[in-house]
Amino acid sequence: MAIDKKMEAAFNEQINKEYYSEYLYLAMKAKFSEWNLNGFVNWFDIQVQEERAHAEGMYNYVLERGGHVELYAIDKPEIKGNTPLEIFKQVLEHEEYVTSRINHVADVADEVKDRAALIFLNWYIKEQVEEEASVGGVLATLELIGDDKQGLLALDKELSARVFNPPVIG
Ligand code: FEO
Repeated sequence: MAIDKKMEAAFNEQINKEYYSEYLYLAMKAKFSEWNLNGFVNWFDIQVQEERAHAEGMYNYVLERGGHVELYAIDKPEIKGNTPLEIFKQVLEHEEYVTSRINHVADVADEVKDRAALIFLNWYIKEQVEEEASVGGVLATLELIGDDKQGLLALDKELSARVFNPPVIG
């Protein structure tokens, strides 16, 4: 069954948001690199790869459904904070926004009765729970650390251990 035009448009809009996420985390990665916090750099590097995989997952899905992929311009990322804590507050806010947008895409699938798309989107809905939990965990630790430099370095070391596992989407 050909993909509904409204469904296709919702996917194309979300592809752009996932690429924007990649771009935002790439900018944040550079910021942590300037601060020589290389564990955080590693964490953002993996985040960047995950966002690209999220975008590509939808890109491939639209094509698989015989739809048309439309790529939009990616906005300039704005980093709002100037400390690790402020930046992670922004990351959590951003992921919560992405969750709301994924839910919107699922709402469209509901509206046009596209059950296949809903099943596909379940992966993203579950992934957002993980994304928010993982970011929330780092944020909570940063809040505990406060101004303690030793604590920050210990967290940096912990984040250096994160590894990228290419997601199997869908
Ligand atoms: Fe693609 Fe971080 O959600």
